[in-house]
Amino acid sequence: MDIPRLHPETIEQVKQRTDIVDVVSEHVVLRKQGKDFVGLCPFHDDKSPSFTVSPGKQFYYCFSCGAGGNAIKFLMELGKRPFSEVVLDLARRYQVSVQTLKPEERQEFQRQVSLRDQLYEILAVAAKFYEHALYQPAGQAALAYLQTQRHLNRETMQQFQLGYAPAGWETLYGYLVGQKHYPVELVEKAGLLVPRKTGGGFYDRFRDRLMIPIHDLQGRVVGFGGRTLTDEQPKYLNSPETELFDKGKLLFALDKARAAIAKQDQAVVVEGYFDVIALHNAGITNVVASMGTALSSAQVRQLLRYTESKRIVLNFDADNAGNQAAERAVGEVEMLAYRGDIQLRVLNIPDGKDPDEFLKNHLAEEYQVLIETAPLWLDWQIERAIAGRDPKQADQFQAMVQAVVKLLGNLPNATLRTHYIHRCAERLSQGDSRLMLQLEEDLRLQVRGERWHGRSQKWQTRSDRTLLEESEEQLLRLYIHKPQHRALIESSLEERDLEFSLSHHRLLWRQILHLREQGIDLTDASVDLLSLLEESELEISTESSRVYALFQLDETRQVNTQRALLVIRTAVAAMEKVMCEKRRRHLLDLLQSLDWEIAPDLGQMYQKKIYAEDQRIRDLERERQVIFEDLVRVPLLEI
Ligand code: UTP
Ligand code: MN
Repeated sequence: MDIPRLHPETIEQVKQRTDIVDVVSEHVVLRKQGKDFVGLCPFHDDKSPSFTVSPGKQFYYCFSCGAGGNAIKFLMELGKRPFSEVVLDLARRYQVSVQTLKPEERQEFQRQVSLRDQLYEILAVAAKFYEHALYQPAGQAALAYLQTQRHLNRETMQQFQLGYAPAGWETLYGYLVGQKHYPVELVEKAGLLVPRKTGGGFYDRFRDRLMIPIHDLQGRVVGFGGRTLTDEQPKYLNSPETELFDKGKLLFALDKARAAIAKQDQAVVVEGYFDVIALHNAGITNVVASMGTALSSAQVRQLLRYTESKRIVLNFDADNAGNQAAERAVGEVEMLAYRGDIQLRVLNIPDGKDPDEFLKNHLAEEYQVLIETAPLWLDWQIERAIAGRDPKQADQFQAMVQAVVKLLGNLPNATLRTHYIHRCAERLSQGDSRLMLQLEEDLRLQVRGERWHGRSQKWQTRSDRTLLEESEEQLLRLYIHKPQHRALIESSLEERDLEFSLSHHRLLWRQILHLREQGIDLTDASVDLLSLLEESELEISTESSRVYALFQLDETRQVNTQRALLVIRTAVAAMEKVMCEKRRRHLLDLLQSLDWEIAPDLGQMYQKKIYAEDQRIRDLERERQVIFEDLVRVPLLEI
């Protein structure tokens, strides 16, 4: 349809009701950071979360590519859609009544809106009809099935609004069209009728089936799944795609699960309708299902909106189809899992049972334990790479090593990588300690090779927080263990006017500077920094264990000198970059709260400064990239 010109009043109301976090988080995984939310920018190939959304200001901004604006602008840019179309969508979503500038346009629009409203109504009435039928004599077998085969209590049946579609060809038809006088085309549009192949007319889509209504987030019925009570195929018949029913976007029972997901800070995704229902029936309510389709990234993102720590457990059947479903489901969010942005676990119930079957002879608590002990996505994959292969056969052993190397090459975090390499070596060597050492070294080399190929993508995908933390730690470690580099570290920080930002680092650094002010020559290699600090009563901060960890001997002890210099340079560049970003954010805040009419000069000045920070950030990024490439070529250990 042509898009009507909207009345300014409508636009204003849409702006007021729309929540930017709500809108953006359907498309971007957001994480709370202070008052704002951050995530990967959808407008460019973002490596670290540069995309910020401010609920207070109802504004988004990407520190990397400069994209910014309100919720409407976001949807326009993202979908390359015109203004009015986006506003209309939002109006629908936030139930703003739409006024157009021309009355004749209004009619067409009202028609569209009311089509949806009428479909909602028809589906709601149909759901009530089915539900009522379940408790009638005709529904007796279906009800008995729910009670005896599925062990559901009445509350659960009512909560899920379960029902029964009677066996005739025109039962619902007769009720909705004959008795209630809904236009037959609308009932068909709602997905409830099927046109006859010959002779015209319609018949009921769902006949003699147990009916499971599918609700949207607002709790409105948008479709149905109907399970046969016999051996008829298909086992489940679902509503077709309609104006309201989009299988790929909906999650079954999210309306009932979202509060529990938020409360427990974790979402469980299962495969079947009855798995969800059985779990809810048993009191485990943070559970949803996709509907026979692979989990889409849109669905995953929806879930992530409700769990602050981004914890998702996939409980798919342990058969091969289920495992493939898990892999497909994860495909689109895999990188988020490797990076630690989401905590993804995979639960396979022993004996290949689904949750519904499991609960038939186990307690809810036992399922809870399974959830809590479910392996992380990476561990699960490693296990799959190893299981079923015999390490004593040379070719199978090689295949295992290769698979493991490939998996570990995805890990952007060095500490994690080391940890996993160790674990895999342990696992693969089966208690042979000589083999294990050798294997560990082998894996280390190979994983590093792997990283080299995919480095620019994988290596830089860390959140700023870890980047900063890691950089600061690296500098302090080198400072502590490599006296010959102390002068360089001090001067680099001073030149760029940098400070440590983590409080325990800052404290440590202040004490180091204090020692220097007391006239102690810290460049003297024989100076024992730790004892000196302890003598000067090293203030034990709440993070003392992390401070002490810096003093532990580790890889840095043996770092090759050339490498140390490069590490110092990248770390300093990273620190500066984060600082620029912080400054930039502050300037942007000022700019946004500025009244342009009163102080246009000030506005221009802020803009210039923001631009300058932008330039610097880009330079620093380039600098880090160049150094990084050198870094990869320099051997790790001093020989
Ligand atoms: P499954 O066939 O794996 O089994 O369907 P289930 O859920 O354990 O079924 P029950 O316990 O025998 O009732 C998993 C999901 O796949 C979709 C449904 O959403 C179902 O819940 N499905 C399955 C269909 O849409 N159509 C089918 O014919 C089968
Ligand atoms: Mn089942």
